[in-house]
Amino acid sequence: MSRGREEKIQIAASILSADFSRLGDEVKQALEAGVRRIHVDIMDGHFVPNLSMGSQVLRSIRPIADKFDALLHVHLMVTDPDRYLADFVRAGANSVSVHVETCPHLHRTIQEIRTLGARSGVALNPATPLAALDEILTEVDFVLVMSVEPGFGGQEFIPSSLDKIVRLRRMLKERGFDQVQIAVDGGIHIQTIGPVARAGATVLVAGSAIFNGHASVADNLRELRTAIGQKKPGSRSRQRRDLT
Ligand code: DX5
Ligand code: ZN
Repeated sequence: MSRGREEKIQIAASILSADFSRLGDEVKQALEAGVRRIHVDIMDGHFVPNLSMGSQVLRSIRPIADKFDALLHVHLMVTDPDRYLADFVRAGANSVSVHVETCPHLHRTIQEIRTLGARSGVALNPATPLAALDEILTEVDFVLVMSVEPGFGGQEFIPSSLDKIVRLRRMLKERGFDQVQIAVDGGIHIQTIGPVARAGATVLVAGSAIFNGHASVADNLRELRTAIGQKKPGSRSRQRRDLT
């Protein structure tokens, strides 16, 4: 992996696995350890078989993220995401991803996210082919490749996701959309993070590998960074510019 590419890779902390009784502190620990992107999973019990949180949680962590000049990403795993876009952007989302499987009018949904002032992302379930991106690539800032079935933290990485990331990276290059970020979500830990980064991902979303009872948030992040050859987080200004 080239030095430039390696530095562009960002680890995003998914708070789904955090201890919600002290969420602010968990977020702060990740930010103090150099994370500049917090991933917030919104689940409705319909599109995925689980419930998680609403925009008030996002609103409550926004001031903490601001102190570190960090970004909040909202991953909407809900049917009819259009109903909630404005709510989440108003609550402080810098970027929002919607699942293609939930959007009959994807172009309009993506446009709406941008009109609201956030970066737009399209998420693909493991069995959804890359072809679903064909007509929307011109409009998106990033693609979120799900490497587990959405709905729960702590699941096993689906191995075929690696080839999907490689093919997506190639597709973006061939079509001249190299600036589109590839985020990968699910089963990212010290064994899988290296192969995922080498396959071409630029944003690595990790939940249970960062927030768990085994080690501190800082130690977990250090191990993840070591696994992708990053010694320490880049400078604040540089990271900020690279983020989607
Ligand atoms: C799963 C969520 C993920 C989840 C990842 O539906 O979208 O963001 O937090 O958790 P881990 O990293 O534990 O697989
Ligand atoms: Zn997620």
